[in-house]
Amino acid sequence: MRKPLVMGNWKMHGTRASVHKLLAGLVSEGAPASVDVAVCPVFVHIPLAVSLCEGSALAVGAQDCSHMAEGAYTGEVAAAMLVDSGCHWVILGHSERRQYHGESDDMVAAKLAAALAAGIAPVVCVGETRDEREAGEAEYTVARQLQGALRGQASLHSLVIAYEPVWAIGTGLTATPEQAQAMHAFIRGQLEALPGLDAAAVRVVYGGSVKPDNAAELFAQDDIDGALVGGASLDAQDFQAIVAAAQG
Ligand code: 13P
Repeated sequence: MRKPLVMGNWKMHGTRASVHKLLAGLVSEGAPASVDVAVCPVFVHIPLAVSLCEGSALAVGAQDCSHMAEGAYTGEVAAAMLVDSGCHWVILGHSERRQYHGESDDMVAAKLAAALAAGIAPVVCVGETRDEREAGEAEYTVARQLQGALRGQASLHSLVIAYEPVWAIGTGLTATPEQAQAMHAFIRGQLEALPGLDAAAVRVVYGGSVKPDNAAELFAQDDIDGALVGGASLDAQDFQAIVAAAQG
C-alpha cells in the first residue's frame, strides 16, 4: 500500500508575508496521518517555511538543486545545503526547468545523483508536450526521460515520480483520469525494468491543473499516488481540499 503524497509547488510566487499567511492556515488545519503533505517555496523562503512548519505534519521541499556537491557554481544551491536547511524533498526536472533553463535528461540525472548522495528525497518530473502527445510520442518521451534520469543511479531509495503532462500545467486542461492512469501504469512498467527497484512501492504522483473538483477522481485511479499541485497550492482551502481528497 503506497501512502499518498500531496505536494505544493509554489513556483516563483510569494512574499514572507504571504508565506506566513498560507502556512498559518495549513499548519493550524494539520495534515491527516494517512497522507504525506509538503510545500515547496522558493529557496529564500525555505528557512521561514521550515520554522513555520516545525512540529507540524507538513514537510518542506525545494524546487530544484545543483548537480554539484559544492564549489564555484554561482547562483546554485547544493542538495546538502537543502538538507541542512531542513528540507525533506526536492523537485527535479520540472518541465519549466527543462523549457526555460535547458535542463537535459543528463542534467536531471546528475541532479538526481547529487540529491540521492545528500539524502534528500527526490521527486523526478516527467511529461510530454502537447505536440508530442498529438504525434503519438507521449510514452516514448516519458520513457526517454525516465531512462535518462534513473538508469545507472547507485540507489533510488525514497524516489517519487511526478507525471506532469506539459499541456496540462497551468492551462486548466487536466489529463482525464483514464489518460493519467494509463501513463502512470506505463511509468510503473518502466520502473519494473530497473534493477534493484521495487516498482510497486514507488509513488507516482500526477501534476497538471489539479484542483479540489478533479482531485478525487484522479486519486481513485490505481496507479495515481497523490499530486504535485501548482496554482491550487497557493490557496490554503483549495490545497487542504486536495489533501482531504487523497485520504480516500
Ligand atoms: P498547475 O497545478 O498550476 O497546473 O501546475 C502544475 C505543476 O507544474 C506542479 O509542479
